Amino acid sequence: MEGRLVLALILGVCTAIPCHAYYSPSKPYVPPTEKVTQLHFFLHDTVSGKDPTAVLVARPNFTTAFNNTPIPFGSVFATDDPLTVGPNLTSGVIGNAQGLWASTGQDVLNLVVYWDFGFTQGKFNGSSFSMFSRNTITQTEREAAVVGGRGEFRMAKGFAKLKTYFADFSTADAIMECNVTLIHY
Ligand SMILES: *[C@@H]1O[C@H](CO)[C@@H](O)[C@H](O)[C@H]1NC(C)=O
Ligand SMILES: *[C@@H]1O[C@H](CO)[C@@H](O)[C@H](O)[C@H]1NC(C)=O
Ligand SMILES: *[C@@H]1O[C@H](CO)[C@@H](O)[C@H](O)[C@H]1NC(C)=O
Ligand SMILES: *[C@@H]1O[C@H](CO)[C@@H](O)[C@H](O)[C@H]1NC(C)=O
Repeated sequence: MEGRLVLALILGVCTAIPCHAYYSPSKPYVPPTEKVTQLHFFLHDTVSGKDPTAVLVARPNFTTAFNNTPIPFGSVFATDDPLTVGPNLTSGVIGNAQGLWASTGQDVLNLVVYWDFGFTQGKFNGSSFSMFSRNTITQTEREAAVVGGRGEFRMAKGFAKLKTYFADFSTADAIMECNVTLIHY
């Protein structure tokens, strides 16, 4: 009996979920106290040059919208964009935004991003939050939705105020200031 309990603790099984089932009994959900954390950093999305942090994965060969730009309608990029404390890359990298963005606007140049913002320094080292949102890059200031998180940011929800610090529409290189408000456990 005791041995089974120890085994269950070690394997992390047969605790909330009975051994013979794949689900637990449903019960009222009591949420833990939520915390709010503000983050401020800069994201560097570099498409051009020998060491890009955003690379083209696919694009249609028949699109007409924004065909004369590096990000025609329908193109998809994968990124590993450094996050820094100040606008300059030399100011100190504190994490990275890994994920995808797609050029999704036909009339107005627009992106939809799926980004996991992971941190590599300080209290939130190893934690990340997930942004899944429009990124209306033709507006200097805009807002994006935060839909989840890991580690310290488990169950995060929130929003990010985004501001273009630098953008070169001929190369699609950009630096973006991010003020993020996260509500999490
Ligand atoms: C797009 O690619 C397809 C398949 O390779 C080809 O048949 C078609 O001619 C291409 N269209 C253009 C506009 O290049
Ligand atoms: C970053 O700092 C370097 C060296 O001080 C400077 O040459 C460069 O212009 C700066 N870049 C930005 C984007 O401010
Ligand atoms: C961040 O966490 C990783 C993995 O646990 C660890 O290897 C690394 O030393 C940590 N970095 C800092 C700056 O704490
Ligand atoms: C972020 O917050 C700082 C300090 O409150 C402010 O100076 C800056 O304009 C804000 N930036 C954005 C993109 O909201």
